[in-house]
Amino acid sequence: MERLTIQQILDNSSSDVKKNDIEYCLMDCLGKDRVFLHTHKKYLLTFEEQYKFNKYIDKLKESMPLAYVLGSQPFYKHHFIVSPHVLIPRSETEILVEQVIKTGERVYAEKQSVKILDLGAGSGCIGLSIAVDKPEWFVCLSDFKKEITNVIYKNKIKLNVNNCVITVVDWLTAFSQDSFDIIVTNPPYIDKSSCKIEEAVKKFEPSHALYADEYGLSYIKEIIISSKKSLKNNGYLFIENGYDQSKEIEDFLVKNDFKDIEVLLDYNNISRFTKCRHIDG
Ligand SMILES: C[S@@+](CC[C@H](N)C(=O)[O-])C[C@H]1O[C@@H](n2cnc3c(N)ncnc32)[C@H](O)[C@@H]1O
Repeated sequence: MERLTIQQILDNSSSDVKKNDIEYCLMDCLGKDRVFLHTHKKYLLTFEEQYKFNKYIDKLKESMPLAYVLGSQPFYKHHFIVSPHVLIPRSETEILVEQVIKTGERVYAEKQSVKILDLGAGSGCIGLSIAVDKPEWFVCLSDFKKEITNVIYKNKIKLNVNNCVITVVDWLTAFSQDSFDIIVTNPPYIDKSSCKIEEAVKKFEPSHALYADEYGLSYIKEIIISSKKSLKNNGYLFIENGYDQSKEIEDFLVKNDFKDIEVLLDYNNISRFTKCRHIDG
């Protein structure tokens, strides 16, 4: 195995791997920041560093997303551990975190503790971000496979979160009545026949995190129906949804007696989230 200097690696970078990704891999292998890379270009990688770096580059050449190569993705205020069992957290989902915190602070200002459920938590990026920012609240994070909740658990330890519980459960089937003030969910919502999915997403991200039946709406509808039981009276439901699903979701919420329905936009001004309130009839 040939050992290279930082300069040689940056100069030799091939066109099928982004220069930025190469820099992130180098930073990870050396345990250094970008400033080090650009001020120590004559540094010769050790055998271990070069071996690890070569493995990373092989994976990037197969189009594996950088987050899976490094096992980590920045989201909101933290870095989250990811594995191939969980979706890579997307930056627009940070809006959901901000909205839940804003609503909780406004509506439950008098309450000692607000009880939140992050449903289909994946890496735990939504629920753990809320739990860190609001240590006086209590967050339950659920997903339906142990391999997934293991990742949430690793992130809970990494972020030193104590005000949360993690559970393996099929959507809302195991929660008792009137359990939560707020339920927040980013469920799978992509239509199985959609042709708008990037190749790398199809190849590497878990299908259980992406697709749903009924033009992508089956899980959202299931969650809307069952959250009426698990939400406390006046409790809020926040849903992340597809760009073209807002109208149908709104109609379904009206049919199910939800009130104060609001459609929220993402950073590209696309209807991406639905916020609503459950009021006992
Ligand atoms: C789009 S991902 C969202 C992950 C994470 N909340 C995020 O925003 O990055 C949807 C999540 O729903 C979970 N899920 C799929 N089917 C489920 C079920 N039957 N019960 C609970 N969670 C489920 C998937 O495992 C996945 O983690």
